[in-house]
Amino acid sequence: MAQIIDGKALSKEIRLELTEEVAQMKEEQGIVPGLAVVLVGEDPASTVYVRNKEKACGEVGMYSEVYRLPKETSEEDVLLLISKLNEDSKIHGILVQLPVPDHIDESKVLNNIDPKKDVDGFHPVNVGKLFSGEDAFVPCTPLGVMEMLHRNNVEIKGKEAVIIGRSNIVGKPMAALLLQEHATVTICHSRTADLKAHAKNADILVVATGRANMVTGDMVKPGATVIDVGINRVDDVLVGDVNFEEAKEVAGLITPVPGGVGPMTITMLLKNTLKAAKIS
Ligand code: GUN
Repeated sequence: MAQIIDGKALSKEIRLELTEEVAQMKEEQGIVPGLAVVLVGEDPASTVYVRNKEKACGEVGMYSEVYRLPKETSEEDVLLLISKLNEDSKIHGILVQLPVPDHIDESKVLNNIDPKKDVDGFHPVNVGKLFSGEDAFVPCTPLGVMEMLHRNNVEIKGKEAVIIGRSNIVGKPMAALLLQEHATVTICHSRTADLKAHAKNADILVVATGRANMVTGDMVKPGATVIDVGINRVDDVLVGDVNFEEAKEVAGLITPVPGGVGPMTITMLLKNTLKAAKIS
């Protein structure tokens, strides 16, 4: 039976550390880290995420502004808002919640965020820095996964790390981070020929596919660390991309859904916003 990584408890611990750092920054430098969140349209999941981000900022003593724009807002108006936020000294971090409506060019929007305020780490400058091993803003979800591995003393150097999923938000940056810490990294995806053979070889298995329960117990190496990034709603119940009941019998360490990676993602957004305020 695997040991369960409690993302909620870990998150709470880190948010307490951040609260102290924010208070100290305010006292010593008179700076309150500020985050601007831009939401275009009313996607229900995005609406919940944005509300949670706003709430989390308040809880650690950060300043936040949320721009809820109607779904028909023009690309030009979104770009104008970003230019304004780039120049705003109260704002250290800017985040545009994805996805944006179809008439808005996502990469154009992301490319216009000042890389020094890019707390999501989606700007090509930060992507390039991450892959070159330079200091960069790193996307929040993979950053949260690394924090979970570190704080649970999971050995990374020399280990076989297998990532299922190749998205820009999770899979690709996850690979860069694990590689930087000397894992041997494999990225699997929907066209991978023998997924089970790869997965079963993993000492560290990170799953981010958006397909409910797709990793079954027979795909997990005994004693492996299994990190489930998925959040899927099945018959009104939240489940991950890993079949938790099966995998927990085989793994050494495993994250649950909910209460695993999810809470860590917003915590890392706060951490990145503090970092942005420090370099401002
Ligand atoms: N949509 C889904 N995940 C994310 C994220 O990490 N950041 C932003 N901005 N949008 C998202």
